[in-house]
Amino acid sequence: MANSKITFHRPDVNLRELVARRMPGYSLEAPFYTSQAVFDADMEHIFSSHWIYVGVTPDVPEPGDYMTVQIGKQAILIVRDDDNEIRAFHNVCRHRGSRLCSADKGTVGNLVCPYHQWTYDLTGKLIFADHMAEGFDLSHHSLKPVHLRNMAGMLFICLADNPPEDFDEMARAMTPYIAPHKIDDTKIAVQVDILEQGNWKLTLENNRECYHCVGNHPELNVSLFAYSYGFAPKPEQAEGLRQYEALVADRHAHWEACGLPSTEIDRLEDVTGFRTMRMPLDRSGESQTLNAQAACKKLLGDFKDASIGGLSFWTQPNSWHHFMADHIVTFSVIPLSADTTLVRTKWLVHKDAVEGVDYDTDNLTAVWNATNDQDRRLVEESHVGAQSPAYQPGPYSPYTETLVDKFTKWYINRMGVALE
Ligand code: FES
Ligand code: FE
Repeated sequence: MANSKITFHRPDVNLRELVARRMPGYSLEAPFYTSQAVFDADMEHIFSSHWIYVGVTPDVPEPGDYMTVQIGKQAILIVRDDDNEIRAFHNVCRHRGSRLCSADKGTVGNLVCPYHQWTYDLTGKLIFADHMAEGFDLSHHSLKPVHLRNMAGMLFICLADNPPEDFDEMARAMTPYIAPHKIDDTKIAVQVDILEQGNWKLTLENNRECYHCVGNHPELNVSLFAYSYGFAPKPEQAEGLRQYEALVADRHAHWEACGLPSTEIDRLEDVTGFRTMRMPLDRSGESQTLNAQAACKKLLGDFKDASIGGLSFWTQPNSWHHFMADHIVTFSVIPLSADTTLVRTKWLVHKDAVEGVDYDTDNLTAVWNATNDQDRRLVEESHVGAQSPAYQPGPYSPYTETLVDKFTKWYINRMGVALE
């Protein structure tokens, strides 16, 4: 790859060509981050074709509770019905297409269109439509369903007619890891939405490495061992790495004996790609807080001991999560345009935990509010750089950026298959 040549990218990209000439082990070419045509393809072939993480069961805790999600041009409604089943629909009235629910969240008895009051029950069936012709058949005008899966309290939707079938493999592997944290028995203590002025792939790439952590995340580094997340030790650090690996082996044996699966699973290259691992935390070893101690006195599930480290879980293409004994932090990424990305963070605590008694909101959120803001800045600076004609793909570290490589490889493979 030439070092000095500056290339001006034409706006009319040939995506097939870009995918075909992608250099493994290097960051993507600029149009993948900046082009409207690539963004449109991302929304069609990635975000409308794969399983997208959208929230948790406590987003809709009671029958009649709903939440809305916007994925590109697609408005989606997620609702808990009277039998406690969580369903997803296109948020589009079958009369003349009005959006049914415009709020982020709400509670309804039935779903009543604000335009002409067509009324749907919580299973999506049309049950009332005034002034229609003789013989009008309500049953032919139900809301259009969207595929939804509830994996131990985590909600994923897929907008494709035929979603990737390997979701079941992820659910089988991941449920034993997640279930002990009992998401159904939590509440959302805090939700924070941030808009990053950067392409969604830069957000994901940034999430998939901790190369940047030492230089950028003082708050997060309190509880993270430097040796986790890929590390190429200098000779004088070899002993530290050996001790860390011995600690991981010891903790894994202990946690697994207590019924907490801990060993790494890396299926990031599957169609429904994911990775997980339970890792020890530094210092008090309890939680991702400013002193590494639990932020909530009331522990999740049946946990009696807060020292169970942090279970991390990453999914392609749009989420990551950290499960601890006292709280869960869950992140979803939704692209809004080629250069704007919504990062939604939720902090979950036990549903009976009382703010000011069991937990302090500032303490609970301090690490990830700071870390998110630091990551936002990193993503935005990368996006500015990617727009320069001087940008050219740069090499990944074979030690600390292997998961970034797996993300971009997954993306290129999925896009390649879609364009075949
Ligand atoms: Fe919904 Fe007319 S568009 S009732
Ligand atoms: Fe970061």
